[in-house]
Amino acid sequence: MNKIKVAVLGLGNMGATHVKAAQDSPCVASIIGYEPDREKAGQRGKELGIKATDDLKSILGDPEIKFVSIAAVNEVHCDLAVRSLIFVMGIAETAGLPRA
Ligand SMILES: NC(=O)c1ccc[n+]([C@@H]2O[C@H](COP(=O)([O-])OP(=O)(O)OC[C@H]3O[C@@H](n4cnc5c(N)ncnc54)[C@H](O)[C@@H]3O)[C@@H](O)[C@H]2O)c1
Repeated sequence: MNKIKVAVLGLGNMGATHVKAAQDSPCVASIIGYEPDREKAGQRGKELGIKATDDLKSILGDPEIKFVSIAAVNEVHCDLAVRSLIFVMGIAETAGLPRA
């Protein structure tokens, strides 16, 4: 089975649930988390046992990520979804755009 790299955007309550689901999945090779605040990213990453960053561009520029889970506050769902679709799901290449 080809295992994939997964990103979880937002590491609050629901983010923890998404991370746990990914950790329990036999299809997932690794998980990277995102929180916009650097200190919170570090803290939540440690608590959840994953790498986490405040650098969204590094996530959206990573061609190994094949699945993005959005668990952030409601206000940013649309922005994160559009950015993820464009840069992570390969539309960037199709449109001839840089990934990040
Ligand atoms: N908690 C639940 O039981 C539950 C159930 C169903 C759906 N949801 C949905 O899940 C989403 C998150 O809810 P929650 O309960 O985990 O809230 P939460 O406040 O615990 O977590 C939200 C996280 O998003 C982060 N965040 C803020 N701005 C961000 C940005 N620009 N990019 C990425 N992350 C950002 C916050 O720092 C926070 O850690 C909401 O849309 C909510 O409606 C929650």
